[in-house]
Amino acid sequence: MEKVRILVLHGPNLNLLGEREPQVYGTTTLDEINSALQSLADELGAELKIVQSNHEGVLIDAIHEARGWADAILINPGAFTHYSIALRDALSAVGLPVVEVHLSNIHAREEFRRHSVIAPIAVGQICGFGVDSYLLGLRAAVNLVRKRKGI
Ligand code: DQA
Repeated sequence: MEKVRILVLHGPNLNLLGEREPQVYGTTTLDEINSALQSLADELGAELKIVQSNHEGVLIDAIHEARGWADAILINPGAFTHYSIALRDALSAVGLPVVEVHLSNIHAREEFRRHSVIAPIAVGQICGFGVDSYLLGLRAAVNLVRKRKGI
């Protein structure tokens, strides 16, 4: 079975998962999320490149570098979700299918979190399921690539 290549991007402050507001984001660390993603990727026949950054430009560079390698992008843009037109433009520019994920249900939180500038250019958004948002998002990304490429 041909491998599907997914770029996984974690935005700002997600490196602090485990200790950051555990009542909102849970106690799972980013390393644990990445291990769970890697296990699922092995099961699904996917190859992952995983990047976390607190810097918008680093995420944008990783998106540009995904051209010619990745088949899709799985992204938790963190707070950039709500205002980064630069991140959205980078995602649009490379034209790869995007799956947006969030640990928390952003629609049930503060007003400013209810709007995503990324959602309109994503294939879909999964939020509110903690670590499972990422795992469901990875399944969705792999399935959509397999369907689109017929692999
Ligand atoms: C988040 C939700 C964002 O509003 C917040 O800024 C984050 C994490 C989530 O995964 O629930 O950093 O993307």
